[in-house]
Amino acid sequence: MFLPNTFKDKVAIVTGGGSGIGFAITQQLLELGANVIITSRKEERLITAIEKFNALRTNDSFGKVRYQVCDIRDTEQVEALAKNIKDNEGTLDILVNNAGGQFPSLAEDISFKGWNAVINNNLNGTWYMTQTMAKQFFIPNQSGRIVNIIANVFRGFPAMVHTGAARAGVDNLTKTLAVEWSKYNVQINAIAPGIIASSGLENYQPEFLEGVEKAIPMRRMGTSEEVANLTVFLASPFANYITGETVYIDGGQRLWGDFFKL
Ligand SMILES: NC(=O)c1ccc[n+]([C@@H]2O[C@H](COP(=O)([O-])OP(=O)(O)OC[C@H]3O[C@@H](n4cnc5c(N)ncnc54)[C@H](OP(=O)(O)O)[C@@H]3O)[C@@H](O)[C@H]2O)c1
Repeated sequence: MFLPNTFKDKVAIVTGGGSGIGFAITQQLLELGANVIITSRKEERLITAIEKFNALRTNDSFGKVRYQVCDIRDTEQVEALAKNIKDNEGTLDILVNNAGGQFPSLAEDISFKGWNAVINNNLNGTWYMTQTMAKQFFIPNQSGRIVNIIANVFRGFPAMVHTGAARAGVDNLTKTLAVEWSKYNVQINAIAPGIIASSGLENYQPEFLEGVEKAIPMRRMGTSEEVANLTVFLASPFANYITGETVYIDGGQRLWGDFFKL
């Protein structure tokens, strides 16, 4: 579908690019010629991912990849990342806000600390990255693409009220920034995955996900590659007239079925 040089000379950040969905997104961007900086908190995870990406390099059009440790909750680390990219690549074209995490719990059992941890990661962290990269690169360059990976919060998020609230916040800021930043030629969209068979599911007890496919109209989980296909599309020139949109990729799950046992 895409030409191998679709993202030639483009520079992208993929937060959480060392695992799961972020890894698949990074792989596709590299295959299409982008130079990618993957970021997350655990250096070992990032180094292992870089080795895997380098092993996938089969031709000269495959982009360059490097890592930078950056906790999206820490504004100093986020600002240091922007400076690091300014000093090294000199520019930034694409930001994929994929990093995030949450834990299942009934709402009444969530402590203030647990609530704050999820809001800080999934809402504040995304905001720190978005505003910092926009001010440093996208607004002065009059060009930028942002893709936010959120979650299927169409009917609320029973069993994870904290992440539901955080992701709904990102869904809403995506709309606002699409309007405010159109004048800077910055496009911002979100992707709302349903249940994706990726490393992220390892954080859940198996019984939490038992039989979950039955509650998905398409009767299967999605794949990281399917989410990556959509991310690459929204970052590409094929999506030049799309902004402020949240695209659900969930096999119809948002429309029917009670997926998590409460
Ligand atoms: N899998 C699903 O069914 C599903 C569905 C809807 C939404 N999502 C969301 O999609 C994204 C990717 O999910 P996944 O399945 O690929 O899970 P994953 O493998 O757990 O990916 C999460 C990534 O985010 C990084 N990360 C977490 N907190 C961070 C922080 N504070 N600063 C920087 N990096 C951080 C992690 O790396 P470090 O630990 O090294 O920091 C990890 O690489 C997540 O936001 C997830 O919540 C997943």
